[in-house]
Amino acid sequence: MNERLLQIKNLKQHFQTSKGTIKAVDGLTFDIFRGETLGLVGESGCGKSTTGRTIIRLYNATEGEVLFNGENVHGRKSKAELKKFNRKMQMIFQDPYASLNPRMTVADIIAEGIDIHGLAKDKRDRMEKVHELLETVGLNREHANRYPHEFSGGQRQRIGIARALAVEPDFIIADEPISALDVSIQAQVVNLMKKLQRERGLTYLFIAHDLSMVKYISDRIGVMYRGKIVELAPSEELYRNPLHPYTKALLSAIPQPDPDSERQRQRQVYDPSIHNYNGEEPELREASPGHYVSCSQAEFAQYKS
Ligand SMILES: Nc1ncnc2c1ncn2[C@@H]1O[C@H](COP(=O)(O)OP(=O)(O)O)[C@@H](O)[C@H]1O
Ligand SMILES: [Mg+2]
Repeated sequence: MNERLLQIKNLKQHFQTSKGTIKAVDGLTFDIFRGETLGLVGESGCGKSTTGRTIIRLYNATEGEVLFNGENVHGRKSKAELKKFNRKMQMIFQDPYASLNPRMTVADIIAEGIDIHGLAKDKRDRMEKVHELLETVGLNREHANRYPHEFSGGQRQRIGIARALAVEPDFIIADEPISALDVSIQAQVVNLMKKLQRERGLTYLFIAHDLSMVKYISDRIGVMYRGKIVELAPSEELYRNPLHPYTKALLSAIPQPDPDSERQRQRQVYDPSIHNYNGEEPELREASPGHYVSCSQAEFAQYKS
């Protein structure tokens, strides 16, 4: 698993507003390997959605590059090339209520990409594809002619997943796909996504605002704080051996299933002023193989020991 499907290089997204410049994404550099799930975690407002939207080119990057299969997504592109990228990269959204057009049938929602990219031979083929997709995501063919309001939150998210799959993408950005769902439904959607990944070799960027569910789906996790990655490591390693104080604070916010550990859990609050950078820019440094942490030289020495 070391083919780089995506290479994100010094990506920046700055918004000009009446209150000044908002540096929503401020210099991200990381790779996403084919077939893996990279979790991207951080508190609300830290720039996760903007990162996803910029990667997928819903926004033009202020600075930096996104390479997909080695090709620059943000470079000058012909219409045909853009269409090709749009097909290879899909997005699943947080709010399944808001992201499905209430006036369209489930069949038309799912088949929209099939139509745009001309993936069906004829009407029958189109409908067959829709039926197959419904079954793939755990719904059934009778659902095709219904409207989004007739479905529960979990079912709507399945429709959103079917819509993304319809164009046979390689890469899916899932932007807090389970945050709006009941806890009991969250695991079902995560399991479905894992199953689809195994069957289709999909690559995911899975965005979440806390560390509780991402562990189960992610191979690696990047922790984001104020537009920057502060730590990036294999999931197990991040949970076992968090280095950055912000990661520790996020971990301390996860309720423990075991009552004894839960009683002992102490929530930590991250205070960015504890770093004594003295004008030195913190950098992402590799503390152990594959485990990167944003730190000063002095902190790095401490983290490595
Ligand atoms: N289109 C936009 N124009 C101006 N500011 C924006 C825009 N989109 C997001 N922001 C700001 O950028 C920051 C990051 O937002 P966002 O990426 O949505 O964070 P997250 O998804 O982590 O909650 C926030 O301060 C948000 O208010
Ligand atoms: Mg968001």
